[in-house]
This record gives sequence, structure tokens and C-alpha cells, in this order.
Amino acid sequence: MSERQDQKIGIVGGGLMGHGIAYLFAAAGHSVGVFEPIAESRASLPRRLQAIVELFGDDPAIVRRIAASEDLATAMRDAAFVFEAAPEKLPLKQQIFAELESIVSPTTILASNSSAIPSTEIGRKLTHRERVVGTHFWNPPHLVPLVEVIQNENTSEGVLGATMELLRAAGKVPVHVRRDIPGFVGNRLQHAMKREAIALVAAGVCDAETLDTVVREGFGARTAVLGPMEQSDLVGLNLTLDIAEVLYADLDRTPGPHPFLRDKVKAGKLGMKTGEGLRKWTPEAADAVRARLSRFLVEQAKARKKNSA
Ligand SMILES: NC(=O)c1ccc[n+]([C@@H]2O[C@H](COP(=O)([O-])OP(=O)(O)OC[C@H]3O[C@@H](n4cnc5c(N)ncnc54)[C@H](O)[C@@H]3O)[C@@H](O)[C@H]2O)c1
Repeated sequence: MSERQDQKIGIVGGGLMGHGIAYLFAAAGHSVGVFEPIAESRASLPRRLQAIVELFGDDPAIVRRIAASEDLATAMRDAAFVFEAAPEKLPLKQQIFAELESIVSPTTILASNSSAIPSTEIGRKLTHRERVVGTHFWNPPHLVPLVEVIQNENTSEGVLGATMELLRAAGKVPVHVRRDIPGFVGNRLQHAMKREAIALVAAGVCDAETLDTVVREGFGARTAVLGPMEQSDLVGLNLTLDIAEVLYADLDRTPGPHPFLRDKVKAGKLGMKTGEGLRKWTPEAADAVRARLSRFLVEQAKARKKNSA
């Protein structure tokens, strides 16, 4: 076993994100402790982890490297890194980090998987703030390669480097985000597109089905292998500028969320779970979308594993 695999990993919160993060580190050879205060969630953890074993056809011994506990100190014992994946509430996360600081070694790295709360705020009251870092995994964390590693105003270079290295060794694709800003990089891009997409549908330019087709069958077909920076360089920045000159003044500038989105939510049209959102959904149609996404992500993840073996 390498020195790196010897590092114990602590996970706070064994929910949707926490169980996938626990799995990916166990699969990389680490022993993992999961703190999960809700008995029902603790009880379902082995079944949820076993489902990932079956998804990949992995060695069932991976799950035996993960131990769940209702006691924070037990789960975090000897942890070199802690990944917090508790509910998205600042006071709760601050309280968890304060408790962690009283339990773990002063050198244990404390990472938050928060989607939106700056880790600067989460670690504000700690004595050793330099060991707090943001690690934004994408759902499902055992299938999506990217992890945004967000260096906040206190994060030391050593903590940043060790976190990037740990994630890389576990088969993830960590990227360094230099400022702790809302949405980091990925969600800003995703929501910039959603903002325009909703405005186009609201204005009747096309229906929601057509909009999805434009993305999936158009630029989406190449997005997994071509980022917007390389795409701009590929077509030439002169063309990119010419298009920007014509287009940007025309893009949506509604301040705040579009009224079309607000009205949908007010009317209880929340998406697949209510049968209607931006599109209409039967349970079968919603299941078909989930199955399509899962099949695609699993195929991609298996191909990556095979290529790196
Ligand atoms: N779901 C996503 O797509 C996604 C993506 C990236 C980041 N995140 C972030 O990850 C974090 C967890 O999200 P999730 O989707 O896994 O939520 P979740 O509700 O599925 O999981 C949270 C878990 O924390 C447990 N918990 C409750 N109280 C706790 C406490 N006091 N201490 C520790 N654990 C406690 C819950 O029982 C639950 O199992 C959030 O900060 C969220 O913003 C979520």
C-alpha cells in the first residue's frame, strides 16, 4: 500500500454526495469513516454503496473499507482529510467545522463540498484556517470526474497542493479555482446558459423541447471534448469577437431570476417530481431521462477506468 493510500479519509454526512465521495476514496484504497447522524441514512448506507459496486462490477471488498458511525470523533479518528457533505446551511457547517477542529489533528485538512457557501465563511471561526478548502464535487461524485478545488483567502498553498494530489491519485480531475466566489466556475457557466435558455423559451423563440435538442444535438455534442476556450481558439478570436459584437447586446439581462421561472415555481410546476416544470413529464418519460443519463455517465466512467488501468 502506498503512503497516500494509508491516509484515512473522514466524511461528514452520508447522503447523496457523501456516500459517493466515501466510495471513490475507498475504491482508491483509503480507509474511510463516515459520520452520519440519521439512523435511517446510516442503515441504508451499505445498500447504497453496494449499488455502486454493482454499477462498476468492482471488488465488494471496497465497501468493507468504509465504516459509518453516529459519533463524529469515532468516524474522524486519525483522518488526514475530512470532506464535509452535510446539509447546505451555514450555521450547521460552521458548527461542524468547530467540532472537527476540537477532534482532529491540527494538520488534518478540512474540505467542504458546499455548492454555494464560501469555505472562507465556513472556516471563519477556526484557529487553523489555513487548512480549510472548498472541494466542489459534481453529482454523482463517483461518476463525474471534475472536482473544483477552491482556494479561499486563508487556504495555504500546501493544503491546496495536498488536496489536488489526493484527488488526482483517486482518479478525479481536480482544478484549482483561485477565488472563493459564488458558483465557483462550473455553476456560473451552467447558470449563465440556463438564464438565456429560460429567457428564450419565455419569449417564445422556441419551446423547451426544442431548446434541449439544440443543446444536446448541437454544441453539446462536442462539449465533452471541446471547452469554450479551445473552441474559440479553434474558430479564431476574430470570429468570436464579430459574433460577440452582434450578439451580446441582445442577450438576456433580466435582473435576478426570470419571472417565467418564478411563476413556474409559484404555480408548483417544479419539474419531473410534479409532472411539469419547463416541460411536461409522465413518470415513464422522467424515468427514461434518468436512465439515459445514468447509462451515459456509467459508460464514460467505465471507459476512463479502462484507459487508466
Ligand atoms: N446534490 C448535489 O447535486 C450536490 C452537488 C455538489 C455539492 N452538493 C453539496 O453537498 C452537500 C450535501 O448535499 P447532498 O445532496 O449530499 O445532501 P443530502 O441531504 O443527500 O445529504 C446530507 C446528509 O447529511 C446528513 N446530516 C444531517 N444533519 C447532519 C449533521 N448535523 N451533521 C452531519 N451530517 C448531517 C443527512 O442525514 C444526510 O445524510 C451540500 O452542501 C450540497 O450543497 C450537492
